[in-house]
Amino acid sequence: MERNQAVLTARFGKMDDCTDVLEYRALGGYRGLEKAAAMDKEKILDELDTANLRGRGGAAYPLGKKWRHLYFAKGDTKYVVCNGDEGEPGTFKDKALLEFDPLSVIEGMTIAGYLFKAKKGYIYIRGEYRNVHQIFQQALENARENNMLGENILGIDGFNYDIEVVSGAGAYICGENSALLNSIEGKTGRPRVKPPHLADVGLYGKPTLVNNVESFASVPVILSLGGQGFLDLGTPQSGGTKLICLSGHVKNRGMYEINLGTPLTDIIYSEEFGGGSSTGRPLKFIHFGGQSGPLGTMGQIQDCNYSYESMWEHELSIGSGALVVMDNSVNVVDYLANVAAFFVHESCGKCTPCRLGTQRILELLQKFQKGEGKPGDMEVFESMLTHVTQMSACGLGQSVANSMVSAMKLFPDDFKHAINWEAKEVQEVIW
Ligand SMILES: Cc1cc2nc3c(=O)[nH]c(=O)nc-3n(C[C@H](O)[C@H](O)[C@H](O)COP(=O)(O)O)c2cc1C
Ligand code: SF4
Repeated sequence: MERNQAVLTARFGKMDDCTDVLEYRALGGYRGLEKAAAMDKEKILDELDTANLRGRGGAAYPLGKKWRHLYFAKGDTKYVVCNGDEGEPGTFKDKALLEFDPLSVIEGMTIAGYLFKAKKGYIYIRGEYRNVHQIFQQALENARENNMLGENILGIDGFNYDIEVVSGAGAYICGENSALLNSIEGKTGRPRVKPPHLADVGLYGKPTLVNNVESFASVPVILSLGGQGFLDLGTPQSGGTKLICLSGHVKNRGMYEINLGTPLTDIIYSEEFGGGSSTGRPLKFIHFGGQSGPLGTMGQIQDCNYSYESMWEHELSIGSGALVVMDNSVNVVDYLANVAAFFVHESCGKCTPCRLGTQRILELLQKFQKGEGKPGDMEVFESMLTHVTQMSACGLGQSVANSMVSAMKLFPDDFKHAINWEAKEVQEVIW
């Protein structure tokens, strides 16, 4: 297997105008859709299953399984929705795809439209990505002019499908798939109670497919290479390549495409990727998958590959593909206080454990920062983390504790000076 293969990024920088359909075609674009249109539909589903692509938005749900569910869902009207909200801190890979190869995302969404006989697709793009909105709109217009969207696409009678852009307005929670659908419908962007599954009752109550930008961009590659060809780019349980975002105290910060299964030490230390510490100080930890993922130590990554299975085995996770690397000048309690402040700000407030729990967690961490914790506070902290995880209604509240629980286990010394052992009172929990 060739290292660091450019598959999703193959066309980056190679087109004078990345929204131009002819240039896109000249570099292999629309081959996936043409292949799909000539295939038996259930064979398309088989190829997706073989590819073993796990959703790239963070939850790692197998894409083949999701598409099969929607294919067999009852209903004449089905919707295709692309999640381009990309609100996870430290994550900027969907932006790159939308900015440098928007037609690959449009092609993936059009393959879904063809398979599900959907008439309408939506892409929800993070509001702050203003330049991306313009690029994407231009790519849509060019696709329409070239009969790759609109009526009788590719000259196929009845293949009518178009895509609309919806702008996010700065709420992290609108990246959660059901909150995103509410937002498209013009409702307050808060998560829905699940079940029902969105593949059965989604946008406007109709069966709906929601996938991440990178997931959609991978679909034409799967069909071009074949499911097995895509699988072989990664490991048997983690097919394909993955876009990763390196930030923090590494020399070469940025977005990279890696083959799943690449050793994590290569990603952090090799000159091809991170290049090691940018500050000259030893690296201390990596925060994986954005704010909602766990922390990992440099020791922990020694024999870990960047594949879903190896990461889970090491109690780590890929999530959105973010890797925030911190050196040993960073106190973990200070770092976590920032993480907690993010969740306080972004909690949608629908359920009490998340709305109040995140605030209480932040207050405790701020006390710890000043060394003003009291005996018993660590137990209160742990109990709050458990409550918020178990009693929150959506993935936001359920993942607040991930970084904190891993930090307490990995860096007990950073928490030691948080408690004033002379103090007598025990923190009272007020919900
Ligand atoms: C609070 C929260 C924020 C999320 N933000 C995003 C996001 O910005 N982009 C994204 O693709 N998925 C996001 N997700 C995951 C989506 O709910 C959903 O799993 C994903 O869009 C499905 O696509 P995939 O299967 O291709 O990953 C978020 C989930 C939660 C709980
Ligand atoms: S867990 Fe938090 S973000 Fe999710 S619905 Fe409840 S209050 Fe809103």
